[in-house]
Amino acid sequence: MNACVRAVVRTAVARGVEVLGVQRGFEGLHDGDLVSLGSRAMSGLIERGGTFLGTVRYPPFADEEQVRREALDRLTARGVEGLVVIGGDGSLHGASHIELMGLPVLGVPASIDNDVWGTDLAIGVDTALNTALGAIDKIKDTASSHRRAFIVEVMGRSSGYLALTAGLASGAEMVLVPEVGVSLERIVQEIRDAYAAGKPRFIMVAAEGAPLKAETIRDYLSAQPDPAFEARLTVLGHVQRGGSPTAFDRILASRLGSEATRLLLEGHHAAMVALAGSDIAHRPLEQVLLERRKLPEELYNLAANLAR
Ligand code: F6P
Repeated sequence: MNACVRAVVRTAVARGVEVLGVQRGFEGLHDGDLVSLGSRAMSGLIERGGTFLGTVRYPPFADEEQVRREALDRLTARGVEGLVVIGGDGSLHGASHIELMGLPVLGVPASIDNDVWGTDLAIGVDTALNTALGAIDKIKDTASSHRRAFIVEVMGRSSGYLALTAGLASGAEMVLVPEVGVSLERIVQEIRDAYAAGKPRFIMVAAEGAPLKAETIRDYLSAQPDPAFEARLTVLGHVQRGGSPTAFDRILASRLGSEATRLLLEGHHAAMVALAGSDIAHRPLEQVLLERRKLPEELYNLAANLAR
């Protein structure tokens, strides 16, 4: 997100436009917590994870008309003429509220869940994926040495994208995603098949939002009489959300932030910028909020086929 803010600021400043950064997300937007941002203040930010502006989850913005109205009044009082909102589903919903109240908005998708409709990838996905991958590669060493079953739980909320791609890239034996139902018996069978095929380990990458909880799977497997089913669980958690962003994410964030700003300054709004193949496109915000990005079925099948 820092790389994106940097791109927004430098694109706007180059066109002679003043930029204010909103601190603490929608709560700061409501409280009028705005800070003037110049080009030089963006130095050294592209390699930093998180957001230097800070962010919070702030339900009142979604729930209370009065809160939104106060936020808009404060923005208008500061002479704000347009807003770039960087974030996932919740932030983009907030963005659409503001647009409906009359302030032009451009959205930029940023969520490790990669569930925002209309973009191939959101900012942060590649970095989170590489962090998860590094951890799984390490766990693989222990899993192979001990001939145990390992479950690695990754984030993603109700989306299986991160689990699927981490599983595919790490060569995991199985992935568990919220979008596909799998029984405990089927997992036991997959482990049996893996060992029968001569595999020295069994690694399952499980999405946190999968209906079968990782702890349930671990306990079920560990209760099996065969010691090869003894399972260990690693929950990766928030390590996936931080760290220095990958080159891919820095470039994506720079392209999306710059394009969002250009569009806004040229009079476009009520839209979200997006990655479409290798191009930067834009989508109507209204449509983005109506749908949810689907798990790519061909990737799911590919992961399953290559794990054999
Ligand atoms: O939506 C992004 C995400 O990282 C999810 O993958 C995860 O479930 C959630 O946010 C964690 O939220 P929090 O930091 O509020 O616990």
